[in-house]
Amino acid sequence: MLQFRLRTRCTEYVVSLLPDGSGLATDYWGEPTAAPIVPTWEGATPPAFQHAYDALPLEYASAGQRHSAFSELLIDREESLTGAAWTAEIDAIEFLTTDDGDLLDVPFTDETGSLRLTLHLSTRRDHDVVRRRMSLRNEGPGTVWLPRALTAAWNVLPSRSVAIHYLAGRWGQETQRRTTNLEWGVFSIGSRQGITSHAFAPTVTVVPLPEEDGGAVTGAWGVALEWSGNWRLRVDSDPMGQRGVRVSCGVDDDTTTIMLEPGQVFTAPDSVGAFSPDGPEGVSAVWHEYQRGELARDLSPRTRPVVYNSWFATSFDVRLDHQLALAQRAHDLGVEVFVLDDGWFRGRTSSHAGLGDWEPDLAKFPHGLGELGDAVKDLGMRFGLWIEPEMVNPDSDLFRAHPDWVYRAGDRPLLTGRNQYVLDLGRAEVEEWVAATLRSVLSSAEIGYLKWDMNRTITDGGRPGDPHGREWSVAHTEAYYRLMRVIRDEFPDVVVEACAGGGGRVDNRVLALSDVVWVSDEVGPRDRLAIQHGYLSAYPAHTMLGLVCDIPGLRTPGDVSFAYRFAVCMTGVLGIGGDLLSWSDEELATAAGWVERYKGIRGAVLDGTVAVHGEPHDHRYVVEFRSNEADGRIVLFVFANDRDATGLQTGLRPLIHPGLLRDDTVYRVAETGQLVDRASARAAGVEVPFAMGIDVDVLVLTPLPAALGGSAGS
Ligand code: DGJ
Repeated sequence: MLQFRLRTRCTEYVVSLLPDGSGLATDYWGEPTAAPIVPTWEGATPPAFQHAYDALPLEYASAGQRHSAFSELLIDREESLTGAAWTAEIDAIEFLTTDDGDLLDVPFTDETGSLRLTLHLSTRRDHDVVRRRMSLRNEGPGTVWLPRALTAAWNVLPSRSVAIHYLAGRWGQETQRRTTNLEWGVFSIGSRQGITSHAFAPTVTVVPLPEEDGGAVTGAWGVALEWSGNWRLRVDSDPMGQRGVRVSCGVDDDTTTIMLEPGQVFTAPDSVGAFSPDGPEGVSAVWHEYQRGELARDLSPRTRPVVYNSWFATSFDVRLDHQLALAQRAHDLGVEVFVLDDGWFRGRTSSHAGLGDWEPDLAKFPHGLGELGDAVKDLGMRFGLWIEPEMVNPDSDLFRAHPDWVYRAGDRPLLTGRNQYVLDLGRAEVEEWVAATLRSVLSSAEIGYLKWDMNRTITDGGRPGDPHGREWSVAHTEAYYRLMRVIRDEFPDVVVEACAGGGGRVDNRVLALSDVVWVSDEVGPRDRLAIQHGYLSAYPAHTMLGLVCDIPGLRTPGDVSFAYRFAVCMTGVLGIGGDLLSWSDEELATAAGWVERYKGIRGAVLDGTVAVHGEPHDHRYVVEFRSNEADGRIVLFVFANDRDATGLQTGLRPLIHPGLLRDDTVYRVAETGQLVDRASARAAGVEVPFAMGIDVDVLVLTPLPAALGGSAGS
């Protein structure tokens, strides 16, 4: 038997080759065990009306190998043979185990000898994520088409009935936490918008429902797809009860057909999986650790500076003197980067014109951007710029010169979104032009920060006449990644903010190529808190940029204090977006104090372990960080939604229960002097003086050396 046991830091993932070598089966995914693991295929008999491979937990299945169950891979060939049957190239299997992790590559050849499928799995010892990928090479003389070519299937073995935790939403209301139960059938989410989308995040967490097994199976399994174009993720609960629950994911098959000419290879995007015995919160912690340790280039304030962004204060009304005045005030507040958003380039007085013409508008900046850039630099801040390089307005010199560069569905009328077209990045000349534009913009002034925006769905994808036209979403996404890498590789000092009309393109791949993310255009504090609550379940605080603005929420406009608005943004990467010229001297002085306060605690926020308590609209909602720095501090953000601006408190005692306290440690609350340990915090909570604001407070708990411990609660 060929069985492979891959170890993460605290979990184990076990697969084996089927005895006839025709596929890999998942044998185990959970806490490590010293015991031998019986392969799932041993002694398995298929139920009536099912063939063996339809009932086995295959790591990756293709039509031809399976017959009635869902398959991740569909293949059409010229001679109309569909699907494939596989045989492993046993001598070419690679299984490498080192102190850093494990790597398994299993190649298979199809029955015609013309296709080579490689399944790739890897783990690392410093986190609990398993990485999966597949690639398919056409080694035959004819062309093949892949109407579906997903990345992987994850078999969550033990259970059939599960609760699925996922993130859903829309523009201005991204990443809302949702849960649905699945017993028999399919749950499917995805995007056909050409970007990851505001509607769903490409990740689910699956938790067995106790009804089926009396709660014998505990823990949670998370799956994420690392892809920013059209995608599909489906959770399949097998009605025959044989395979348990299977999560398949990859490039969306409705909108994509891959064409493989002789010699060509398709490599599907990566998918990652996480098991935690501690339920969905445990899975979030695994994701965060992986995102901090493997995806982020670093967690320092250098790549996550305090930002001022001009958009919400000035919109398209960009004037040099006004920007200079804002920059001066931003500097006085302690801001580290001043970002000039939309509206700075030629012809851009509204959303109707200018995209594509990426030179400073001389009517607004007669001497170019250098004047503002230098002034910002002289103030001791870095200068940042907004760009939307995938887009063009019909009213632009770029479109007049290259009307053929945009996506078009044959002769159908072109569709605009926000008055703009999308450039077809799948064309080499367009990608080259965007790369040249990025180089020229980033060299035009001393720019230390770039916000890359994307403000519409791709609707006319496809390139009639091009046989590879049905791969437009893959081609676009891969070009986007290459272009993001141009910035990373050639301008490593530039901090990159990813944005797509807020959180329209957020996924692990984007997090690996950017530093921070503009998670939503919703800046109203209460609604923002709900968005951030969901965001933090899948993505880390060190990427979560928030701007303190003056605008009430779109959905929950209710009044909150100035302090509450700040605290919401302090739970991630703090930024400011309000019209600073309209802030009073008192507000400016207070804000400067909070920026200073944030700088004192941001190590714990950016590199800490986060837990949330309650729901954002509960009477008390707490976001808690435990610093992973040597000081081991705990920072608590307490939001009190039962205290209004008049100071009336309608409900609970001002107490909360921090969950991240270490077992044997006594902490001192800096703001009150209270001593707490885990037992006293559970029993009585932590006193919240509400010193920062009537409805919010930030508390810092410092562990006392054992000798100074004293008795908790005193
Ligand atoms: C959408 C972004 O989400 C906003 O922050 C802002 O940059 C505008 N685009 C500018 O057009």
